[in-house]
Amino acid sequence: MAVVQDALLVAGGLGTRMLPTSASVPKEALPLVDIPALIHLAREAVAAGAQRLHIISSPRKDMTALLGDHAWLQEKRPELDPQLLSPFADVEVFIHIQHEPLGLGNAIECALDEIDGPFLVLLGDNILLDQHTSPNAFSPSLASKKLVESFGKNGLPCVGLMAVHPDEVSNYGVVRQEGARILEICEKPLPEDAPSNLVLCGRYLFTSDAKSLLQQYDVETYGELQSIALQQHWMKNDGLIGVELTNFQWYDSGKPLPWLQAQVDHALRRNDLSTSFRAWLQERLAED
Ligand code: UTP
Repeated sequence: MAVVQDALLVAGGLGTRMLPTSASVPKEALPLVDIPALIHLAREAVAAGAQRLHIISSPRKDMTALLGDHAWLQEKRPELDPQLLSPFADVEVFIHIQHEPLGLGNAIECALDEIDGPFLVLLGDNILLDQHTSPNAFSPSLASKKLVESFGKNGLPCVGLMAVHPDEVSNYGVVRQEGARILEICEKPLPEDAPSNLVLCGRYLFTSDAKSLLQQYDVETYGELQSIALQQHWMKNDGLIGVELTNFQWYDSGKPLPWLQAQVDHALRRNDLSTSFRAWLQERLAED
């Protein structure tokens, strides 16, 4: 597998759709049942080979407790997988402050002085799971590893793609492809105008030219579309690859309803919870 040493866990946004919770708890710290989103992402990045994790935060967010090493609690819960209490112990961690939430491209720019080679980007409120393991025998997601494998084959930047229901495409960046190559990204199209039902799902592997390209496609000119301009540049030049993440569940903690749906879906699949949760849910639904 190719070596991609750096991963950005992007968490500099305001999280206004999760207020009032996000006023005191970063939405990226909200749990999927009992494991915070950012811990899922950190272990996914490490499983993909990253050894340097860059957390993009904002001046208003306190990540201290989330990023701490809680190994001292192991004796209270000896059955817990140790990587969940010390999720950052085996990597170098860098905190970068994005002073204004000017979009994904600007968030990425905050870390690029510390990065030389290709790097992964994981949106902090998007979890992609292919395994629904309990915290006692935790298996990290292999989503980012798939992007690193794609990069190993062709050396081209790539993005993770998920298929969504055709009615939902207008919430996302939707791609048009020829083979694996992306030819176009349509931002939030009407269902009838969407070129496919494959959408960007919060996982990216960008190459080191991103730094100079983000200066060329600057935030003053492109605003929140700066990261799309960067991807368009690659599409028009050497190429941008789409990596379809089949058999992954996509959980979003950015809005109340998807966050709630994520809890229910994951609980129904997780080996230590599914039997008792399913029984309770069926009984509860029968009451209505
Ligand atoms: P979102 O657009 O979903 O997050 O970005 P947001 O801006 O915090 O949400 P609302 O619109 O206010 O409810 C997806 C991820 O990218 C990060 C967010 O923190 C989130 O994890 N992000 C977004 C940044 O790091 N910087 C930004 O400027 C924007």
